[in-house]
Amino acid sequence: MLRTVEIMVGLLALVCIALSSGMVDGGRSIQPLETEDIQVEKKLKLLNNPFVKSIQSEDGDVIDCVDIYKQPAFDHPLLKNHTIKVSPSFVPTNGDTSASSIMNSSLPFSQVWHKSGSCPNGTIPIRRILRQHLLNASSLERYGKKPMNIITKCDFHILDYTFALGIQHYHSTAALIASGFSYTGAKADINVWNPPVEADDEYTTGQMTLTSGPFNNSDTIEVGWMVNPSVYGDRRTRLFIYWTNDSGKSSGCFDLLCPGFVQVNKDVLLGGAIEPTSSYYGQQYVIPLEVVKDFEQDVWWLITRNETDTLTIGYWPCDMFISMYHIAEMLMWGGDVYSPRMHTGRHTATAMGSGHFSSEHWSMASYIKQPRMRDYSMTYKYPYPSSPFTLEVDCYSAENYAEVLFTEPLFYYGGPGRNLYCP
Ligand SMILES: *[C@@H]1O[C@H](CO)[C@@H](O)[C@H](O)[C@H]1NC(C)=O
Ligand SMILES: *[C@@H]1O[C@H](CO)[C@@H](O)[C@H](O)[C@H]1NC(C)=O
Ligand SMILES: *[C@@H]1O[C@H](CO)[C@@H](O)[C@H](O)[C@H]1NC(C)=O
Ligand SMILES: *[C@@H]1O[C@H](CO)[C@@H](O)[C@H](O)[C@H]1NC(C)=O
Ligand SMILES: *[C@@H]1O[C@H](CO)[C@@H](O)[C@H](O)[C@H]1NC(C)=O
Ligand SMILES: *[C@@H]1O[C@H](CO)[C@@H](O)[C@H](O)[C@H]1NC(C)=O
Ligand SMILES: *[C@@H]1O[C@H](CO)[C@@H](O)[C@H](O)[C@H]1NC(C)=O
Repeated sequence: MLRTVEIMVGLLALVCIALSSGMVDGGRSIQPLETEDIQVEKKLKLLNNPFVKSIQSEDGDVIDCVDIYKQPAFDHPLLKNHTIKVSPSFVPTNGDTSASSIMNSSLPFSQVWHKSGSCPNGTIPIRRILRQHLLNASSLERYGKKPMNIITKCDFHILDYTFALGIQHYHSTAALIASGFSYTGAKADINVWNPPVEADDEYTTGQMTLTSGPFNNSDTIEVGWMVNPSVYGDRRTRLFIYWTNDSGKSSGCFDLLCPGFVQVNKDVLLGGAIEPTSSYYGQQYVIPLEVVKDFEQDVWWLITRNETDTLTIGYWPCDMFISMYHIAEMLMWGGDVYSPRMHTGRHTATAMGSGHFSSEHWSMASYIKQPRMRDYSMTYKYPYPSSPFTLEVDCYSAENYAEVLFTEPLFYYGGPGRNLYCP
C-alpha cells in the first residue's frame, strides 16, 4: 500500500508519505486445544493478585488492596529485586496557582470508589479483573493492550522543525503538539468529560502523551481519562495510564494490566471511574497530571494533585524504555478516538472531548489548561514551539484560544465524530 494523504494541521499541511505494512488486528484467536473457559480462568489468575482487603465500589468495581511488594510490576524480569522508590528526588511543584486566568473555576477530579473505603498503608488499590471483562474483550491475549494497528509516517512541521510523526491508522487525533526540545517532563490540567462511544470496540480519550524514538518503534507514555468499553466493560470515564516501548506491537498496556509501572500511592486507582465529569455550560472538572524524569533515580514519575495535596502515583523505571530511557522528543495534549472501522465507510459517532467542536470554547468544548514542558533547565514553561493539530477537522477540531488578549490560551479540542460534514 502506498499513498499520499494531505491533512490540514492548523494552518500547516502535514504530508503523510507511505503506509507502512504490517500490523493488523488478528482479532479473537482461540487455540483449538483449550476451551475459551480454561483460557479465561488462566488469564484471570495471571491478572489478579492476592489481596489484603477488598472494597466493593458502588460503580460495580471490586478494588483489591494488594501488598505494595506483590503488585504486578514485580512480575517483570527487570524488576525482580527492585526496591520501591518512595518519592521523587526533588520536591514536585504543587500546580501553577500563579497563572492568572478567568477560567479558574475547575475542580480536581475524584474517584467513585473513595465513597466505599480506602486501602491500608503498605498496599495499593488494584481494580479486580472479572470474568465478564475478559468475555467482553475483543481479544483475550491482547486484553489490556491497544489493538494492533498500521502506522503511517507523516512529516509534521512546527516553525523550522520537521519531524516524523507515527499516525496510527485506526485512530483520529486532535492535539497540541510540541517538538524541538529534549523534554524531561510535561504536565497539564486535563478537562474531564464523558463522551458517547458508539460501539463496544471503540474508545475515546483526553490525554497527555510523551514519546520518543522511530515513528514505527517508539517509546510512549500516555496518561489521562478514557471511555473504553472493551477494557473496562462499561462507558464510564476512567483515569488511565498507558506505556509501550515498541509502538504498541507487543510491549506495554493500560494501567497495571501488565508489569511495568510501579505504583506507590494507596489512594489513586488506575482504571478507576471518575465522578462527577464536566457538564455542558456547567461545572468543569480537571485531572492535573505530571510525568517527570528523575535523573537521580532513573524513573519517570507520575504525579497528580487533589484540592489540598500533591499525590505521587508511581513511576516507570527507565529500563522499560529504549530512547525514552533519557528524554522524550515530542509532547502531545488532546484527544484520541479509536475505531477498527476508522477511514472505512461511515465515520464513527464516537465523540471526542465534550462531543462539541473546539470553536464552542469555555465550558462547552473540552480543554487543556496550562500545558507545560520541562527541558534540561528542569523548570516548567509553556510549550514552544507547539502547534494545534487535527487529522479530521470536520469530525474533531483543535484550537488555541485566549479569552482575554495577552493571556495564555487554553487549548480546546474535540467534536461529535459523524455529522453532516463528517459523513
Ligand atoms: C536478584 O537477586 C538474586 C539473589 O540475590 C540474584 O541471584 C539475581 O541475579 C538477582 N536478579 C536480578 C535481575 O538482578
Ligand atoms: C476566579 O477567582 C477569582 C478570585 O478567586 C473570583 O473572584 C472569580 O469569580 C473566579 N472566576 C471564575 C470564573 O470562577
Ligand atoms: C499510615 O501512614 C501515615 C503516613 O505515613 C500515618 O500518618 C498513619 O498513621 C498510618 N496509618 C496507620 C494505620 O498505620
Ligand atoms: C520502520 O520503518 C522503516 C522504514 O519505513 C523500516 O525500515 C523498519 O524496518 C521499520 N521498523 C519496524 C520495527 O517496523
Ligand atoms: C458485556 O457482555 C454482556 C453479556 O455477556 C453484555 O450484556 C454487555 O452489554 C457487554 N458490555 C460491554 C460494554 O461490552
Ligand atoms: C520492552 O518492554 C518489554 C516488556 O516490558 C521488555 O520485555 C523488553 O525487554 C523491552 N525492550 C527493551 C529493548 O528494553
Ligand atoms: C487529598 O489526598 C490526601 C492524601 O491521599 C488525603 O488525605 C486528602 O483528604 C485529600 N483531600 C481531598 C480534598 O480530597
